[in-house]
Amino acid sequence: MAIISKHQYVKRNRRISLFLLAALLLIKTNAQPLVVEAGKPGAAIRPTMWGIFFEDINMAADGGLYAELIKNRSFEFNMPLMGWKEHTTVPGDGTVLVLNRSAESPDNPRFIRVTHTTGNPYGLSNEGFRGMGIKKDEGYHFSVWARPRSGIPLTLHLELQTPEGKVIGETRLQLPSANAMAESTTTSAIAGPSAGPAASAGDPPAAFPSPWQHATASFTASATEPHAQLYIWFEGQGSVDLDMLSLFPQHTWKQRPGGLRADLVQLLADLHPGFIRFPGGCIVEGRDLAGRYQWKKTVGRVEDRKLIINRWNTEFAHRLTPDYFQSFGLGFYEYFQLAEDIGAQPLPILNCGMACQFNTAEVVPTGDLDPYIQDALDLIEFANGGTDTKWGALRAAMGHPEPFHLKMMGVGNEQWGPQYVERYLAFSKAIKSRYPDIRLVNSTGPDPNGDRFDFLNDTLRSLHADILDEHYYRNPEWFLQNVGRYDHYDRNGPKIFAGEYAAQSDHTVSPANRNTWQCAMAEAAFMTGLERNADVVQMASYAPLFAHVDGWQWTPDLIWFDNLGSYGTPDYYVQKLYSTNKGSVVVPLLRDGSPLEGKDSLYGSACIDSAAHELIIKLVNTSGQAQQPAIDLAGIRRIDPQVHCKTLTANLEEVNSLDSPTHIHPLETIMICKGKKLAPTLPMHSFCVIRIKIVQ
Ligand code: AHR
Repeated sequence: MAIISKHQYVKRNRRISLFLLAALLLIKTNAQPLVVEAGKPGAAIRPTMWGIFFEDINMAADGGLYAELIKNRSFEFNMPLMGWKEHTTVPGDGTVLVLNRSAESPDNPRFIRVTHTTGNPYGLSNEGFRGMGIKKDEGYHFSVWARPRSGIPLTLHLELQTPEGKVIGETRLQLPSANAMAESTTTSAIAGPSAGPAASAGDPPAAFPSPWQHATASFTASATEPHAQLYIWFEGQGSVDLDMLSLFPQHTWKQRPGGLRADLVQLLADLHPGFIRFPGGCIVEGRDLAGRYQWKKTVGRVEDRKLIINRWNTEFAHRLTPDYFQSFGLGFYEYFQLAEDIGAQPLPILNCGMACQFNTAEVVPTGDLDPYIQDALDLIEFANGGTDTKWGALRAAMGHPEPFHLKMMGVGNEQWGPQYVERYLAFSKAIKSRYPDIRLVNSTGPDPNGDRFDFLNDTLRSLHADILDEHYYRNPEWFLQNVGRYDHYDRNGPKIFAGEYAAQSDHTVSPANRNTWQCAMAEAAFMTGLERNADVVQMASYAPLFAHVDGWQWTPDLIWFDNLGSYGTPDYYVQKLYSTNKGSVVVPLLRDGSPLEGKDSLYGSACIDSAAHELIIKLVNTSGQAQQPAIDLAGIRRIDPQVHCKTLTANLEEVNSLDSPTHIHPLETIMICKGKKLAPTLPMHSFCVIRIKIVQ
């Protein structure tokens, strides 16, 4: 149960009273009752029905979910010192040199050599991802790979500073001397948990053979600051090689060192998602094939994961993000772990030998597809294979000997045309012959209709594909007009994954799109159609998932965040109401014998949660008037008179924000019902979920 303050309580009750009053004044009574035929169970609703779509767009990974605070920690950005700044009082007292050792360390070639020759202050600062979000009394773990060269061993004086230059946390870390290198392997300013980045394979990183040494320090911040910077002052006179400078908050999701931002994962966990699709999206495809997502380069020690440019760095001229790269600190192991943590089935999407067709449209000749297909086969082994297999052994070495229970996988993202069919066939043949139980998700292109869609839809159906991935970024009207989209789909054909959808308040890729209540309400109405057709539509996910308020490229998005806080949009609360009121079997909800698909501005669906013995009715009133439809409950003997309703309502243009994160959120009321009749009040522009206990 949520605990709320007295002030919130009064405010909330005032809001409920106001909307009930408004409702009573405006109520439109509808003549024909709605009928729920609770004794006529229809399609089973799969546990996977409502899920989430993660893509590293809008700084969702580095700068977002992945809690690393240092940007360009290993100097592998195109501009090796991007995000870093040198500080010196007397030019020449200190130097920083970028060195490249690609032959020795091809996946992490660059490092810096810092030389300090006088007693004058000399240092480097890192600006973080649009600053660093620092919290008062929070512990911070710093770590670095170091190779001292000559002179007195340098001491790193670490300072967190506000933009005004106030120090809000500091410590000193003495690096070992060149002579001491052989004797110890780790030095630490404060005894405590290793600050080393995320879960690692058992072996030391290939990038840092002896005499490289891992050094760590921890300290506590004295103030909260959303845009702090880390200063590293070099004390002493000498020279040292440094790489992988890292700073993590102590409190990450499940307190994992080098882990994920807890508030963001919590928002995902609260959705109880049935699945998590990762890593995208177009990021799977890459702008060209060289920039495609390759899962094997994202596992093992973080130090050995090869950084690449993020395809969204340059995608939109109106939202250029030159400092957007993929460190892969959040890689495939972490995605599987996240899925497990939040009880979601993992749904990885792999490149099928095609780069983004909106960009280069580069394809691999079909004769050269083997390495791509092998990646898919090896991924299944990584997720499910025994610890005696090559990839299963790596999973175990990273800390997870048990399998991740992978059951489905996507082949390609938003591909289209005959080239896709050729590649899908090659993947499907290889995967199905070795792993017949893995269900494959296939593209139907970027649009929900038109020639590209029709071609793939027809072809993949004739090939008996498992699951078709449909995408729709459309205006709210489209969502309302398409509530019945799946009513006439072939019940025996491939299943549908509504893999990416979001109502656009302006138009697709417009930076003016906002997460308005109008959009969220249209999605809620549309989702009644998905639920009613749960025998065909087996999975659905809003997209994209995350956006940093200072680093986004694409809007709208389900969850917005800055360096300290986060909030769910109205769309988030719609998703949450669906996923936490999923039910297990659909039952008919009819007016005049027909489903509720917009007549009188009403949309609805009903289902039964068999485990809880509850009937769940979802109703959307898109009109500007309150309605109070009569509902007859058929096919059940008795109900508990206390009926619980959760209602989302707002004016069409209203939004949530960091300052008002729950401005639009579900309000709970209890309605007392007599017999088997209900007359719920549906405020104007509202989405209501009604839960009714069935008494046996
Ligand atoms: O969700 C944003 C993008 O929209 C995805 O990367 C892509 O699949 C779609 O075009």
